[in-house]
Amino acid sequence: MIVCKSKREIDLMRKAGKIVADALGMVREIAKKDITTETLNTKLERYVLQKDGIPVFKGYRGYPKSICTSINEEIVHGIPGQRKLCDGDILSVDIGVEYRKYVADAAITILIGDVSEEGKKLVNVCEKSLDRVIKTIHANIKLSEVSRCIQSYVESNGFSVIRDYTGHGIGRKMHEDPQIPNYVSKELLKMDEILLQGITLAIEPMICVGKCDTEVLKNRWTVITKDRKLSAHFEHTIVMTENGADILTV
Ligand code: MF3
Ligand code: CO
Repeated sequence: MIVCKSKREIDLMRKAGKIVADALGMVREIAKKDITTETLNTKLERYVLQKDGIPVFKGYRGYPKSICTSINEEIVHGIPGQRKLCDGDILSVDIGVEYRKYVADAAITILIGDVSEEGKKLVNVCEKSLDRVIKTIHANIKLSEVSRCIQSYVESNGFSVIRDYTGHGIGRKMHEDPQIPNYVSKELLKMDEILLQGITLAIEPMICVGKCDTEVLKNRWTVITKDRKLSAHFEHTIVMTENGADILTV
């Protein structure tokens, strides 16, 4: 069941969202060649705690860290560790924060040094697919319109959308109804729900250069593309209003 949030709840999500956005702002400054993903995890975790936030990923189904760092063919759920960033890498960082019982979640993909033309285009198309859907949607549209907007933009630019993982409702918990696929399917159209004012969603296009098939590494978390081609991920938490989608992770 999809629940609408009250003004008070949305205010708290916006506070959680500001911590998330500022943490991702730090990533843009400190993620450079030779920095380890563990260093990013340590700095962001410290920042979140200092702002009275709780890093919600840590301990979620046993996940060991406060952020996800997914490099190149890694799509999502990369675990921070001693790996150093290299020139030419594309790095996705995903972080969720709880603030006074309310959660916000966002992700960015950034370029480390000199990235291939293909990598740059992939990251750009992924970011634009999220910007575009956020500018397009508003309360009282159907869920499938969110999915269609992302899919059509990504595919018309020659890339694929990942189908095995989706966006999600969010607020009192990190994952709430509905699931938000980044592509349209028969099943989606069958139970297509109307998105009312006050619904809060984490919209997260995950896209790739090659085929959309995925695999999970032996660490049981990190999701990669089967063909080992590049993947990118952007995410914002938004609230649906009559006038449009209002971004909470800014
Ligand atoms: N943004 C991801 C999601 O919405 C983050 C979950 S990672 C986990 O599913 F570590 F918490 F599982
Ligand atoms: Co999410």
